Formats: sequence, structure tokens, C-alpha cells
Amino acid sequence: MKPVHDTHHATLFSGNCVEVMASLPSGSVDAIITDPPYAEINREYGRLSEPDWHELMRAVVGQVRRVLKPSGSAVFILQPNSEHVGRMRPWLFEFMAWTSREWNLVQDVWWWNVSTPPTGSCQRKNGLMRPSVKACVWLGAPTCYRNQDAVLWTPSEAMARVKHANRALRVSPSGLSVRAGRIADTVAERGGVTPYNLLPIPNSNSVSSGGAKGHGAATPEVLCDWWVRYITRQGDIILDPFFGSGTVGAAALKAGRSVVGIEQHAPYVEIARQTLVSAEANHGG
Ligand SMILES: C[S@@+](CC[C@H](N)C(=O)[O-])C[C@H]1O[C@@H](n2cnc3c(N)ncnc32)[C@H](O)[C@@H]1O
Repeated sequence: MKPVHDTHHATLFSGNCVEVMASLPSGSVDAIITDPPYAEINREYGRLSEPDWHELMRAVVGQVRRVLKPSGSAVFILQPNSEHVGRMRPWLFEFMAWTSREWNLVQDVWWWNVSTPPTGSCQRKNGLMRPSVKACVWLGAPTCYRNQDAVLWTPSEAMARVKHANRALRVSPSGLSVRAGRIADTVAERGGVTPYNLLPIPNSNSVSSGGAKGHGAATPEVLCDWWVRYITRQGDIILDPFFGSGTVGAAALKAGRSVVGIEQHAPYVEIARQTLVSAEANHGG
């Protein structure tokens, strides 16, 4: 299959990702980071029923497992949705269940979109909470590559205060004792704190974002960058089978990785190509 863009660090294919992935060699990519379409949502690129969505994702996961290197892992960013107020759709939870059983869920990780606007379901008369988390379904071998040091969080002011003020032994409600001063010392020595599995990242529409470029469902680059740094090394190859405007590609190239993108909707293929050209111009592709 002939790519529409092919340089030293970036390859872009136009087409259905299942068919394109079938043409890639086995064990040829280090990681998959992707934000697939969600079930039962109307988009410019169509609407998938829950059964059709599972059929697509079974084929996608099959190819993803084949093209991944044994030390690699895959992250699928997916947002739960509702059939109507007070009734969630099961497709995401079913996906997490079958991929955990048939492959392996490395850890449950959630993206907390701290800037999500209120929806109808949380109007006062409906009384629900504001939906604000998406699952980052992280699949791979239990020992798959990851680098916690690359994604440490900046110590909060509270943590810094603890360092000076609280060196007493603290006992948590579970009875576990923790010497807070020792934790703070580790933070100083490592240059940051161990991140939680809830990533608070606003879905902001910066000038460089896919949304600003005309893609209605783009992923925040900060989230893509976090996964790029966490599960890949410099020089690794990252595949995104649902490339959209190419945000994963921009994050990969900025961090010194290579990228293979696949997108089937022609207008987005062109946006993605431009994303790659400008990222390569700015980051020495
Ligand atoms: C949620 S968007 C991805 C957004 C992307 N991460 C970005 O930041 O722009 C999902 C994308 O998958 C594409 N898509 C849907 N089904 C596909 C398929 N079978 N093969 C390839 N691309 C597909 C859609 O056209 C859409 O652009």
C-alpha cells in the first residue's frame, strides 16, 4: 500500500486502518496511541452502532497485537456515553472487559478533562454529575516498556511545605504508616512526584490543535505527549490507526519519535499531512 506522505520519520496512509495495518509487517511498531471513533455518535465520518463498533475494534485489536513488538503496548482513548439520561451505554466497559480477558489491561488509566462544559444530563432537573473522564485503555504485556521518570509531576506547593513542616509519622485511615518527610525527600531527589492514574488535562483548543485545524474530535496534544513520553523511547515508532488531524504524530515528532498514521476521511488526511509537514519543519524531520 502506497503512503500519501513518506519521510524519514513520518508515514501517512489514506484508507481503512484494518486494511492498511494488514499490509504492515508483524512486530514492526513500538507503541500504538490512538483515539478511535466512539459508538453511537454522529460524526462527519459516520455513526457506528455498538455491534458495528465492536466488530471494527475486534479487527483493529487483532492487527494491533500483530504489528506490535513484544515489549510494546497500545493505548485506546475512549469516552463513555449514554443512551439517554440515567442509562449509560455498555460498549466501552465491554471493550475493557474483553480486551482485559483476551489480552491484558496493564493498568486502568483515566484522562480527566478538567475543562469539560456541563451537558443536558447534569442540568438541575436531571441531577447527574458532569461527565469529564475518558478511559485510556492501556493494553500490552504486564512487563511492557514504560518510563515513570519521563512523566513525573512537578511537586505541588503542598508537597513542598510537607518537606519542611511535617516529618512526623502519619497514619492513614487504613493503618498504613507514612513518613511524609521521606516522601518529600524522594520527590526532591527524583525531580517530581509519581503521577496518579487520573491525568488532569484541559481539552483546550490551542491554535495548533486539531479542532482549530477543522477536526471536530481532536485529541489534546498534552495528553498525546504524555503517552508518547511514558511508553516509548527516543527513536521508537508509534502507530496511530485513527490519525484524524495527526495530533499523535505532532507529539511523536516533537519528542524525537517516528510515526505511522492511518486516516480514512479524505479531508482529515490532508489536515494530517499538513500537521506532519509543519511538525517536521519545526523539529527537524
Ligand atoms: C476521534 S478521531 C481522532 C482524532 C485525532 N487523534 C486528532 O487529534 O485529530 C477518530 C478518527 O478516526 C477516523 N476513522 C474512523 N474509522 C476509521 C477507519 N476504519 N480507518 C481509519 N480511520 C478511521 C475518523 O475519520 C477520525 O478522524
